[in-house]
Amino acid sequence: MCGIVGFSSLDRPACVPLVNGLRRLEYRGYDSAGVALESPDGIKVFKKTGKVAELDKLLKERLGDEENAKCTIGIAHTRWATHGLPTEVNAHPHVADGGRLALVHNGIVENYAALRAQLEKKGCSFVSQTDTEVLAHLVAVFDRGDFLSAVSRALKKVEGTYGIAVISTRHPGEMVVARKGSSLVIGIGEGSTVVASDVSAIVAHTRQVIYLKDGDVARVTPGGVDIYTLDNVPVSREVQEVEWDAESVEKGGYEHFMLKEIFEQPETLRNTIRGRLDKVNCTAILSGLNLPPRELASIRRAVIIGCGTSLHAGMAGKYLFESLADIPTSPEQAAEFRYCNPIIGPDDWAIAVSQSGETADTLAAVRESIGKGALVSAICNVVGSTIAREAGRGVYLHAGPEISVASTKAFTSQVTVLAMIALKLGRARRLSREDGASICAELAALPDLVAKVLERNGDIAKVAEKYSGASDMFFLGRGILYPTALEGALKMKEISYVHAEGYQAAELKHGPIALLCEETPVVALLNDIPGKEKTVGNVQECRARKAPVVGIVTEGDESAAAHCNDVVYVPRTSAVVAPIVTVVALQLFAYHVARLRGCEIDQPRNLAKSVTVE
Ligand code: G6P
Repeated sequence: MCGIVGFSSLDRPACVPLVNGLRRLEYRGYDSAGVALESPDGIKVFKKTGKVAELDKLLKERLGDEENAKCTIGIAHTRWATHGLPTEVNAHPHVADGGRLALVHNGIVENYAALRAQLEKKGCSFVSQTDTEVLAHLVAVFDRGDFLSAVSRALKKVEGTYGIAVISTRHPGEMVVARKGSSLVIGIGEGSTVVASDVSAIVAHTRQVIYLKDGDVARVTPGGVDIYTLDNVPVSREVQEVEWDAESVEKGGYEHFMLKEIFEQPETLRNTIRGRLDKVNCTAILSGLNLPPRELASIRRAVIIGCGTSLHAGMAGKYLFESLADIPTSPEQAAEFRYCNPIIGPDDWAIAVSQSGETADTLAAVRESIGKGALVSAICNVVGSTIAREAGRGVYLHAGPEISVASTKAFTSQVTVLAMIALKLGRARRLSREDGASICAELAALPDLVAKVLERNGDIAKVAEKYSGASDMFFLGRGILYPTALEGALKMKEISYVHAEGYQAAELKHGPIALLCEETPVVALLNDIPGKEKTVGNVQECRARKAPVVGIVTEGDESAAAHCNDVVYVPRTSAVVAPIVTVVALQLFAYHVARLRGCEIDQPRNLAKSVTVE
């Protein structure tokens, strides 16, 4: 979704770091981009619809070397349209005060129509259809000499969410940034200060960062940062060291980030598991949960909340929690949950699952659950993200930065964490030592099992070749593999634009089977775990309608393979880790179909990596 970069230096031109920062944020999804540079002769704004490369070209054409050298402070933005079409006029930065002030914004100003009407009465004229432009005018109207106070006063009028960066030629050398509900990070470099909505745009400069908190407003200069509340009270925020280095946000020789991230999974799973399996007591050590066994034993119900891929991980969590720990568990789509006045209270455990830790609906569901007195934990990948901080306790994935919009390594780590939580819960309740030991052993073996699936990449590419021309596909799974079928279908539609549906294997015959024909391939998850024989029956129903079946089959299970037109083999596992191992084959299948169809894999149309609006 929208991305912000700001750069402030005494002597280094801002343009290149700003554009490079935007490139790092491209993965979030956007449809236009822009830069504003502060120069001694005023603010220079450059905007372009489409890719950052287009904006870069424009800057190279329009910004002379001499001018470039003088502009050492600037702000930049990638916009994902919410209010108004993705046009150049609507692209950020937006200007006010006769072109003296420029502002970039992530989030939504909910009362923008009322604010706009008031500002128009005062004589401000608007050029765009965006909610953001009101912020630029508001700051200009309140500017009586102190830039930071002007921004604070303006923000007090705003209902909604924001991450902003503002510059003004009335206050040379000063940039003001603020956040509420939309992340903003400040990187403290040597002789320069960098601002971004996402730490991946900062790590090329520095790994010393400050995560602003909601309600913070900060004055950023080349020498550092001063942070205040909106009421002008100074606050101090800890400088933290980012674990990721610049290399971890590079493609590392792979054609796409998605492929790199799929292949990273043995390593990311190793990192997720490291130090967390207690082989002596046959349980998991998850100290971030901060829940003593007594408290674990008293939980009556779990609710696992998420969106998209994270929701699918939560659905797999239901099977794990119920089968290993006997805890009734409901997976909940975060927006549905937050708006249905959910029945949740002190005996319930709400677990928010979010790769980015910034998804607006998931965050709102966390707040709703905290407000109703539930025990709340988070499973996030991005350290220091809003959901992780607000939940207060939880488990980090340690999967490293996920750049591809289509989530892969986060999913496998999320399900792994949920399996470890289920193990811990189970052992605190009724899971035997022997069963605990065998789950520990399976989880420890996961990186090697996933590596075996990756060895099948060539076979999977061949199967993909056969079906890459299909316009519709079905993915069938049963029990714990049903969420994996949903996730396989989601991957397929996200990156290849093939219409794909995930179904419970038994549900197909209650309607969707009407769509089956020779042109509708069915991917069936036939792993040799309980329920397989029933799914084999469903496969026969598909074959009888002439639909070609691609079976995901356990190595050596020739009887299941015999029912399929094409087979992708995966290693033998128990049901507990089957979703994790199996999804890797589906990720590769979707990847190859998208590649063969010539799709833009890392930045699929209309999608955003981190959805920070409702
Ligand atoms: C977006 C992304 C999905 C992701 C979902 C939830 O829709 O495109 O890949 O699964 O948000 O994101 P989260 O960061 O909360 O896991």
